[in-house]
Amino acid sequence: MSLPLPVEKLTEEQAAAELERLAKELAKLDDAYYRNDAPLLADAEYDVLKRRNEEIEKRFPRLVRKDSPSARVGAKASDDFEKVVHTVPMLSLANIFTDEDVYDFVGRLRKFLGLDESAEMAFMAEPKLDGLSFSALYVNGTFVRGATRGDGSVGEDITENLKMIKDLPLTLRSGDLFGNDIPERVEIRGEVFMNKADFFALNDEQEQKGKKPFANPRNAAAGSLRQLDPEITKQRRLSLFGYTFGETSKEVWTSQAEFLAKIKSWGFPTNPENKLCRSADEIVSYFRALEEKRPNLPYDIDGAVYKVDRRDYQERLGFVARAPRWAIAHKFPAEQALTTLKNIRVQVGRTGALTPVADLEPVNVGGVMVSHATLHNEDEIKRKDFRIGDTVIVQRAGDVIPQLVGVKLEKRPENAVPFVFPDRCPVCGSHAVKIDGEVARYCSGGLVCPAQAVESLKHFVSRNALDIEGLGAKNIEFFFERGWIKTPADIFLLEERYGADIRKLEGWGDKSADNLFSAIRRVRENVPFDKFLFGLGVREVGQATARLLADHYLSVSAFLENVDKARDKESEAYRELLNIESIGEVIAEEISDFFGEESNRAEVSRLLTLINVSDFARAARSDSALAGKTVVFTGTLTSMTRSEAKAKALSVGAKVAGSVSKKTDYVILGADAGSKADKARELGVAIISEEDFNALCRPA
Ligand code: IVH
Repeated sequence: MSLPLPVEKLTEEQAAAELERLAKELAKLDDAYYRNDAPLLADAEYDVLKRRNEEIEKRFPRLVRKDSPSARVGAKASDDFEKVVHTVPMLSLANIFTDEDVYDFVGRLRKFLGLDESAEMAFMAEPKLDGLSFSALYVNGTFVRGATRGDGSVGEDITENLKMIKDLPLTLRSGDLFGNDIPERVEIRGEVFMNKADFFALNDEQEQKGKKPFANPRNAAAGSLRQLDPEITKQRRLSLFGYTFGETSKEVWTSQAEFLAKIKSWGFPTNPENKLCRSADEIVSYFRALEEKRPNLPYDIDGAVYKVDRRDYQERLGFVARAPRWAIAHKFPAEQALTTLKNIRVQVGRTGALTPVADLEPVNVGGVMVSHATLHNEDEIKRKDFRIGDTVIVQRAGDVIPQLVGVKLEKRPENAVPFVFPDRCPVCGSHAVKIDGEVARYCSGGLVCPAQAVESLKHFVSRNALDIEGLGAKNIEFFFERGWIKTPADIFLLEERYGADIRKLEGWGDKSADNLFSAIRRVRENVPFDKFLFGLGVREVGQATARLLADHYLSVSAFLENVDKARDKESEAYRELLNIESIGEVIAEEISDFFGEESNRAEVSRLLTLINVSDFARAARSDSALAGKTVVFTGTLTSMTRSEAKAKALSVGAKVAGSVSKKTDYVILGADAGSKADKARELGVAIISEEDFNALCRPA
């Protein structure tokens, strides 16, 4: 290719031809980038073309084309979907794996509800579809908005894409003549998936076009649904089933069975394999039968879901953390395959834990290519005697990282090499120590260890923490290696300090740099307190704990102030911390240690000058008189079990503490109450009966 003529030397004729060529070329590149997620050029090269086009247009304004790339919105349009807030969160499910777990589940719920042996309790058993969950909102029977699950609280608006799925009714068909049975607003939720046959056909096509095939139907469905161009969603055949609901103006069903029958009568697809089971035994036989059917079903499933049928029972059972107590996922056992163990490497995690990772000869395990597996720890390698060169059994269960189950000893080659676990950190060379009572070895390098630093940074920007788009693991490593981001606060100084350098980097260019900087700016303006806390990576403080802490202290300043005071174990602040549901001494200790450490404190202060951490927004709850109050239960309750009572209190916005203190608002007195009642009297805390409690739970 000849070098392009400098813009100032172009004749008008040449300029016109050049603008035409650039318009075509850039349109093609935009298409590849925005529609197919498959850029044809590096961003920097793209930018060169774009700039040349602009320069020519500037010199010859008369020649600016109607289809000028500088005017086109498609190209500039952000590759973002609009956000949708789920008024009713989209939850996940807890998993079980064995028949015994089924009996435990049923027994536990019966006990929670206080049902005696003769009482009936039915469950809807449904295949667990391996796709993506969606929400479809209907107003007056018309489909008005579709959304993905996202993080459960906020999803993405995929209205146009869902419209392209032929199974989705655009209007609900009324079951009675007057359209009376369809609530004014109803949000039907379910799963979008790709049939196996459609998946194979799509992959053939991808291959013919020289594009990368999808790993499995789930990925193909995800890739097809989240297309900015809904036409592409249309071309790729997707299917869906409805299985639950979100917000609704009127519940016109009293059980899951009725719900499914209703939406089916409205024309919404439901799974024909759903079946009402009346006992744990029936559930277990359903699962066996489903396992048999699995290979012949037209779509992938990864287990079954059991849901308490009656809505009133569901409501009494309520939720634990992010999952309903009234439903559970029963997963199929893992799938296995044989392959060769090529090498064992040791990775250093965010907390310094050294984890051995197996490099494998790539192998297909139940439809997914696997080339790495986790080995958990040193003891496990010894116990199972994995040697490099061995033929090993690798297994995959659900979304978890593949694992090595064991060795085929009869296939062991003579030169197989036993693995010696290093006693030094492979990254920083510090001693690798064992902590009492733990199997893992830890790098003792702490802040000195680059691996720990970089893993902490990755955690800080990850999806469930600050969620900075465009700053994934790869980019974090890249900036870390250059020394441009060493600690979390550096992220927010990146543009100011290194913006110009980044724009000049190979493969970057203005477009990607702008995207990154605007994502960082967007995030810094508003970091929810719970996500901030989770992102700091305090040991033992996972997402759920971070949320509980945020829900209790509400603001980062109140939290830090209390944590400082709580360092004194005799203090009221320490008791308050321990009184938060599910926070025990171990977690309290880790929190104390983390924020007591000078360098962590300095980093947090630095961060707080750079970003705005917003106060925790408590989920809107009923305006019950107990909202925000702290209650303590004591003695035996009669109208409900203790766990039910706790759940009920939490659901109206109260906090449940284990012991009585000055901060307690109410002590609920059951029969045969002991010392807690005495303590309440001593402190002058209000003591109320179970009936009072029930009355207070009702909306004011
Ligand atoms: S019910 C509150 N039913 O499994 C109830 N989920 O592990 C929430 N899933 O996020 C879901 N098939 O994407 C339900 N028949 C089914 C399902 C199902 C698949 C998925 C769903 C959910 C995930 C939880």
